[in-house]
Amino acid sequence: MFHTEICDLLGIELPILQGAMQGGGDVALVAAVSNAGGLGVLPTFGGTDKKLREDIAAVREHTSKPFGVNIMPMGPGITERCVSTCVEFGIPVVTTGRADPGAAAVATLKGAGIKVVSVIPTVEHAKRMEDEGVDAVVASGCEAGGHVGSVSTMPLVPQVVDAVSLPVIAAGGIADGRGFVAALALGACGIQMGTRFMATAESGLNSWGRAQLLSMRETDTVVTRAMTGATVRCIRTPEITAYEEAIRGNASDPEVTTLKRAVRSTRNSSYDERRQSAAGQIAGLITSEPTAAELMTEILTDAKRIIGQLPAIAQR
Ligand SMILES: Cc1cc2nc3c(=O)[nH]c(=O)nc-3n(C[C@H](O)[C@H](O)[C@H](O)COP(=O)(O)O)c2cc1C
Repeated sequence: MFHTEICDLLGIELPILQGAMQGGGDVALVAAVSNAGGLGVLPTFGGTDKKLREDIAAVREHTSKPFGVNIMPMGPGITERCVSTCVEFGIPVVTTGRADPGAAAVATLKGAGIKVVSVIPTVEHAKRMEDEGVDAVVASGCEAGGHVGSVSTMPLVPQVVDAVSLPVIAAGGIADGRGFVAALALGACGIQMGTRFMATAESGLNSWGRAQLLSMRETDTVVTRAMTGATVRCIRTPEITAYEEAIRGNASDPEVTTLKRAVRSTRNSSYDERRQSAAGQIAGLITSEPTAAELMTEILTDAKRIIGQLPAIAQR
């Protein structure tokens, strides 16, 4: 029932992508999502080429299905290095996040037969990526976890759908069958989820993160530049609150730097500790930790039921 054009384009069975998540899910999650018929995507942000090579090999040990690698063009040489490794390993799909990887990178990937899917926060960015030759875009609203723009999913998706001729995947604030059906109604041909996949059995999230996701309200995230310098939506922690208050109170540069360091120092804390993490506003909806396969089945089963109920709902 939900075999859409994105399935044919990416060689997957279900129109569900797992958004790459630095610190939110690695090899096990990527393989689990791909094995369940969606597209798992490996993060590379902040990692080395050696780690990417090991991760690709490890995913291939656990699945023979297509999976993707994410490129975050944030720093000199990063894009070129990731592109070259993806070409060498014959990765079927590359997703790009946060910024434009550049026409040359897109051309190299496409020349190697790799499908390129770009996450975009505005109509203008979507059009630019279409001009550069990408195969599809993920229209990601500012309720999403991770790097965000300023437009939310509901207005962004239909405007992107109207502006480009590419398949559009919706992201930002989707976690269940209702969100899936809404995305299709807005004109998307699939969804990408991050935050919801973090609360799955395979995500490898530490116990502090799991406890957070299961107890958060929709107001418990904040957009801050403290994490990477760009706007990132993440779990509100005492460190981020202190940083944001200092910025608003016109604190001195050294004071802001100290507070920023405090945020970044919690990014790689050990297993049970508070670990600074991105997360989206949909975290407030999460109350369970299914496997990735169970989650995807539940979403599509619910979506089917909701679509069946729509005629009756319209008559109310
Ligand atoms: C913990 C976390 C880390 C993320 N890291 C990346 C990343 O490295 N690259 C990227 O393109 N997107 C990243 N994202 C964004 C996701 O891939 C996805 O697009 C987003 O989470 C979708 O919105 P949702 O969180 O509302 O589902 C991250 C999101 C989260 C929650």
